[in-house]
Amino acid sequence: MTRAPGLIDSHGRTLRDLRISLTDRCNFRCMYCLPETEAAQNFYRGHWAHLPNPAPIVPQWVARSLLISFEEIARVVRVAIGLGIQKIRLTGGEPLLRHGLEELVARIAKIPGLEDLAMTTNGFLFPQKARTLRESGLHRISFSLDSLDRDNFKKITGRDGLGEVLESIRLAQELGFHPVKVNAVVIRNINDHELGSLVEFAREKNLSFRFIEFMPLDSARAWQKEMVVTGAEILNRIRERFELVPVAPENPSATAKRWAFADGRGEIGVIAPVSEPFCGQCNRIRLTADGKIRTCLFSVAEHDLRSLLRNGASDDEIANWLRGVVWQKEARHHIGEPEFVSPPRSMSCIGG
Ligand code: 5AD
Ligand code: SF4
Repeated sequence: MTRAPGLIDSHGRTLRDLRISLTDRCNFRCMYCLPETEAAQNFYRGHWAHLPNPAPIVPQWVARSLLISFEEIARVVRVAIGLGIQKIRLTGGEPLLRHGLEELVARIAKIPGLEDLAMTTNGFLFPQKARTLRESGLHRISFSLDSLDRDNFKKITGRDGLGEVLESIRLAQELGFHPVKVNAVVIRNINDHELGSLVEFAREKNLSFRFIEFMPLDSARAWQKEMVVTGAEILNRIRERFELVPVAPENPSATAKRWAFADGRGEIGVIAPVSEPFCGQCNRIRLTADGKIRTCLFSVAEHDLRSLLRNGASDDEIANWLRGVVWQKEARHHIGEPEFVSPPRSMSCIGG
């Protein structure tokens, strides 16, 4: 078996995108991720009655000593760039909860060869760090916004934070982050009635708005197929009110199918991992806050990079190890198939 020097898997995909979770903790309790609130449990209870589920995941917060350090992250990024990684996305949990985040950003931004440095956040704490993050070299930012209704926002996220998130989105635009992306996970009977108002908002603010299908990555393991509003349905419902014009994908591995509006203002994208999987084009790997490599959102096994880093491995050894791990990347996910096994950790530990 011969392998090219970059990060290539056994299915012929070249990996370019490394997502790094900086903490598994979060100041939100989103229904689709950490549904620990009463509102979330009430919603799911109705669906649990007639369908068995695997046991819920009880989050085991990563101890500080097991958290991958900035030093270690910077080293991994350097080695990964040497292997062809071009894009880094910082995520969580909530990445803004990680102390000194701006120092890490400054450090990573300076690593030669990096083309894109992005972050996904719930936005609640963004205003305090926004300017420093921009100046430290963060290129792009994605916020989560699932509702424009204060009560519904609170129901979905567990936090009365709509005002803060809206302010963060405004501030990010003012500071020149471009594009400012906003993600909404669509759940049937929770926020699908807000599709139209979210689209109006995207247009009014000239945002790049992404509607995402609900995936089985919630800690309660309460996901059911019936809760998913498929990408096709999302699109049809938007089309009833707006005239859409297709936009070319950002790159061949982009997850979103993009659409502009006939009058040119705003842009939406639909991400449909459940109903229209894009695994064949996936170019992503993930590093968890406790230093494990995950080759797929739905991986059931993880690869322990932290031990390697802490046991004196050289850069070459790390690079070779990464190549070996990536080679084993799963061909695709099996959501909706009888053999599907939900991963042992929720999205809050894996990173969006
Ligand atoms: N399904 C789909 N998207 C999810 N996210 C979190 N959990 C889920 C899920 N179960 C996305 C949200 C958030 C990002 C971190 O991950 O859009 O913005
Ligand atoms: Fe919500 Fe993100 Fe926090 Fe999960 S990690 S609870 S999706 S804000």
